Amino acid sequence: MTPSIPSISSEPDPLAAAYEKVPTHLFLDSLSAARALAAEVRELIESRAKEGRNAVLGLATGSTPVPFYRELIRLHRDEGLSFANVISFNLDEYCGLEVDHPESYARFMREQLFDHIDLPKQNIHIPNGAISGDLIFAHSRDYEEQIKAAGGIDIQILGIGRTGHIGFNEPGSSRDSVTRRITLDRVTRQDAAADFRGEENVPRFAITMGVGTILNARKIVLMAWGENKAEVVQKAVEGGITDAISASFLQAHQDARFYVDASAARELTRIKLPWLVGPVNWTPNEVRRAVCWLSTLLKCPVLKLTDEHYNEHGLSDLLSEQGPAYQLNILIFNGMQHTITGWPGGKPHVDDTDRPERAKPHPKRVLIFSPEPQDAIVAMGASIERLIEHGHEVTLVEMTSGSLRVADSEIAKFCNILLELATGPGPHWEKQADYAHDALEALETKGPFGEDTPILRQLKALVLRGELRDASAACKAAHDRVKMLDLPFYERGRYRRFNPTSEDVGVVTTLLREHQPHQIFFTGEGADPSSVSGICSNILKSALKGIGEEAWVSACSFWLYQSKREPLALDEIDMAVPLSPMQLARKSHALARFGTLSSTEAGVLEENRQSACHYDQLGLAEYEAIEAFQRWRRTPV
Ligand code: F6R
Repeated sequence: MTPSIPSISSEPDPLAAAYEKVPTHLFLDSLSAARALAAEVRELIESRAKEGRNAVLGLATGSTPVPFYRELIRLHRDEGLSFANVISFNLDEYCGLEVDHPESYARFMREQLFDHIDLPKQNIHIPNGAISGDLIFAHSRDYEEQIKAAGGIDIQILGIGRTGHIGFNEPGSSRDSVTRRITLDRVTRQDAAADFRGEENVPRFAITMGVGTILNARKIVLMAWGENKAEVVQKAVEGGITDAISASFLQAHQDARFYVDASAARELTRIKLPWLVGPVNWTPNEVRRAVCWLSTLLKCPVLKLTDEHYNEHGLSDLLSEQGPAYQLNILIFNGMQHTITGWPGGKPHVDDTDRPERAKPHPKRVLIFSPEPQDAIVAMGASIERLIEHGHEVTLVEMTSGSLRVADSEIAKFCNILLELATGPGPHWEKQADYAHDALEALETKGPFGEDTPILRQLKALVLRGELRDASAACKAAHDRVKMLDLPFYERGRYRRFNPTSEDVGVVTTLLREHQPHQIFFTGEGADPSSVSGICSNILKSALKGIGEEAWVSACSFWLYQSKREPLALDEIDMAVPLSPMQLARKSHALARFGTLSSTEAGVLEENRQSACHYDQLGLAEYEAIEAFQRWRRTPV
């Protein structure tokens, strides 16, 4: 979730210098960071052009640089920026992939940048992943030579992997490593699994510029977006220089900077524990964060914290402003206590002053937005059941079909069953047999990585729809309460390369106006903006913005459920719905209906248990598990 950052400044914070060992610029979102970086690159290219010289750019692939590339394309198209004097070197390429392979970085670069600008083809350099193993050494040496011959890299653009890699320099890569073949880390392969339709299809090796090659660049900018990068960003920026996190080597470069959005910055000390860095504006949120942190750190229930505890852990300011400890403890304990409710839609006919959700109206029209079909049930399956039991008019809104999650083998299985039925004794099913043959042929033609044809997309969507039908029934949501939006951005795209448009926003706007809900649950705030949940959350927010101040919007309450990767921190929880052991078991049954859950998604039950443990540790009631929600406040238009 997006942390509450008191004030976002894109300049590094001098007070944080004791912690941040590489200048770190915080941006409100990836777009503003991408614009700032593109403006710097533009300046470099144009000043070099004036001098009749080339500008040498080191480029990265993956989701991170996409907004930056889109901005470069815009500058070329709308503002006449020419790339005629640019020479480019890409960081890396998967071994074993031909340049036209849908997941090769060569193809990615063509589709995301090169096909849209005037960078001369002969100036583009990308390691060749298709060459045979015995030639890789020579190829890598030549790559280094080519960089030198071009005069070295002026500005190197980087993303960061969750292993801390830059390029594909996985943990263990040395400070002086050069371009070479590398074995990809398990985490990196897991992160690429969706792109390759399964971890088993992700190449095991890649060719990458070395850490030394990267550090030779005159200027380096590493970009990171979304909460799933927050932990590694913190380690790279604030930890020691270590080959366990290649990005930490940037600390020793004289002109390296990190450009991060608010979510990727959430683990930095100045954001997470600002009282250790400098004066704090003690808003209720900050107070809650500090007290929960202190209680967790000392493994001491909130009500037992003493003045000494506060004083000895950098919170004397808070104590003198809002203390004594006793008073702060009660305030936070009560606040946390009031987040707990078994009535996520509000409890009718009772005083709701201290309840997270208002009592009226009852029943409520509730929309639960799920980016891909499994998301909402994973995060809030038990709360969905509660809402329905309590009589609310719940609609599960499946924003996309989720077809990209479904493996080819599922389709082959279905078609082969169909063929067996159709060719056995019994009904004449020639048409069905033809259909199955067509689908199997389409699978064969596209191969494991090709684009799914419409018939394959449809079948995959139906497979997931079937799973969803079963899972939502297990949460007591009748199938007619499930609304499929099949947003066009997803139907037309593939992972990391989605292009949402106003058409998507239009679909959501129509739905909202039709339902005029009293309560909305959604996710994706703080997610990587190019991920499906990040995109879906932005589409919903754009739709709300477009609708403006219609009466129902102002009265509607909005709740964020946890995203795939990051459970809510204690201080972010505004509503905690406790689960009994039976409810947790039922949620587990519901999840088992999905054949496509990732290991992270399957781990949600454990997270629900963990959330309950955290409440227990604060000295609150001990539950089996908890589903947690954060209130989202709409900025009035
Ligand atoms: C890509 C590269 C990698 C990525 C990193 C983050 O050329 O070198 O280091 O930058 O894996 O990937 P995304 O941006 O997809 O999260």
